[in-house]
Formats: sequence, structure tokens, C-alpha cells
Amino acid sequence: MIVTTAQLFKHAYGKYAVGAYNINNAEQAMGLFRGCIQSQAPFIIQISKGARKYTDKKVLEAIIRACDEIFPDSIFAVHLDHGDEETCYDCINSGFYSSVMIDASHEPYDKNVEISKRVVEAAHKKGISVEAELGTLGGVEEDVKVEDGHATLTNPAEAQDFVKKTGADCLACAIGTSHGAYKFKGKQSLHFDVLKKIQAIMPGYPLVMHGSSSVPQDEVKRINAAGGQLGAAVGVDVNEYLPAAKLGVTKINIDTDGRLVWTRVHREFFRDKPADFDFRAPGKIYMQEYANFIASRNKLLGSENQL
Ligand code: G3H
Ligand code: 13P
Ligand code: NA
Ligand code: ZN
Repeated sequence: MIVTTAQLFKHAYGKYAVGAYNINNAEQAMGLFRGCIQSQAPFIIQISKGARKYTDKKVLEAIIRACDEIFPDSIFAVHLDHGDEETCYDCINSGFYSSVMIDASHEPYDKNVEISKRVVEAAHKKGISVEAELGTLGGVEEDVKVEDGHATLTNPAEAQDFVKKTGADCLACAIGTSHGAYKFKGKQSLHFDVLKKIQAIMPGYPLVMHGSSSVPQDEVKRINAAGGQLGAAVGVDVNEYLPAAKLGVTKINIDTDGRLVWTRVHREFFRDKPADFDFRAPGKIYMQEYANFIASRNKLLGSENQL
């Protein structure tokens, strides 16, 4: 059943984090629903602009509606991931999405406020909640070194001002993570100090952690052993999910790890069966492996058995 993101956050805040998983196709959707039923966890399906273009946004919507029928006990919200203003309005007006993310974090502060506020006003008229972003996620894409530390992190006082001015329902904060498979050089911890400060000035306010994939090292090894050439990929320590959740991180975004599972399953399958070309055989393995992966993440997020 599709529920509001606000409902999920209300139940989770300060106790556990809701897993927000990106989907692009039917196999990911089937794995995701199975994994969440397996672990009895509420979840958020995230759809990026890229996902909406990959086949067609209507195909994704149809897949999700079908999964909702196939898995009648599922409890989930549908969320636009990293939207621009135009895509936010398209999702708000579609009547399908529970929430949207307006990502204007690359804009100067005042412009970010102005754009995010407009989206909040449009969304709230339709009972849809809004995630906005403040700060820069470190990493390769944005040319910001994570080692640069606090300069790129969300400023707690600014976060409070931003939320007051925009009315955003939740806020994506920069606490040291970045998107993709290459997050850290060596072992690095989340910036819990920033979370503590934000929670102290905005108690009860839900935060979102982007770039939360853990980049399992055995997946990286298996991919490379099957012909892949991933470099020194490192992700978030899974043992930091729950401590972050207790400090107000209510939504944890995981996409890259699912792509690694897909790549490992398919590389190993075709390496071991070079004469095969029926993609349904590895596809079936992938759906089960992805379900198991999702269930393992829900356990670490504390969302297991929260239905
Ligand atoms: O934040 C990015 C998400 O992992 C979605 O990635 O834009 O390639 O679909 P994408
Ligand atoms: P990862 O690249 O760490 O999976 O992050 C995904 C994300 O933040 C989607 O918005
Ligand atoms: Na950003
Ligand atoms: Zn993100």
C-alpha cells in the first residue's frame, strides 16, 4: 500500500531509518518488494530523473502499481530523487508520488531557499511532502574532496534558517558521504557532530542521508574476479546507519550497492556460462540476491519488523 512519506517518518523518527532504494526496472522492483516483505519493513521507492527517462516514467509507475497488487502487505512511499523544479511539478501533478526532492543545493543559498519554497508551496497544496538539500555531498562528481571536511558539510544554524524559510518537510544534509562507489579513501566516519547539533536545535525534524551505500568489499572483489575493473571503491560503514538514525536521520538512500549486486550476478553468470544468452536465468538470480540484500539492509537500518 502506498502511504505518505510523512507517515513513515513519524513512525521511524529517532528509532530507525527507512531505507530509500532507487529503482529503474522490473527486476529491481521485484527484488525490492520481496526483500521488504521478507524483512517486514516499510520502505521508500526512489525514482531519479534518469530512471524516469530510462524506459519511460509510465513504465515505472505501472511496475510499482503491479508490485503493490502482487505484494498487498507492502507499506511504502514513492519519492522523486534529486528533482529539479520542473520535474517536481510534473510529479506533484501526476497524483502518483508521495513526496518529491527538490535539489537546488548547487545554487547559492538564497536561490536554493527561493526555489525550494516554491516547490513546497505547490506540493503542500496536494498533500505531498518535500525533501530539500543543503550542503555539498563530497566526492568525485562535484569535485569536492571529502578530506576537505567541514567546509562542505551542512551548517546546523543555516539548516534551521533554511527549514524555517522554505517549510521543507525533511532535509538532505551533507555529513561526509557522496554518491557512487568511491566515497572515501580508507576508513572514514560520518560527521555525527553535525547531526547532534542539528538534532539539538531541531528536535524531531527528519534528516536524510544521501550517498549511503556501503560498497561491500566482497562484491567489489567478486566483480573484479569476473572481469570487472572497479578501483579502490569504499562506502559507508553499515554499523553507522543505526547511530545516525537515532540522531534524526530518518531516510537512508541506497542505490549504488544495488547496482553492484546486479553487476556481480551478471558478470559471474556469463563468465561461468559463456554459451548462455537467455537473460532470464541471471535475472532470476539477481531478483533473489537483491531481495536478500534489501532484507540485510533493512535489518541494519532497524526497519526490519516495523510493519
Ligand atoms: O543520486 C543519484 C542516484 O543514485 C540516482 O542515480 O541519477 O544515475 O539514476 P541516477
Ligand atoms: P549511493 O550512491 O551511495 O547509493 O547513494 C544514493 C543516493 O543518495 C540517491 O539519492
Ligand atoms: Na548538493
Ligand atoms: Zn542522492
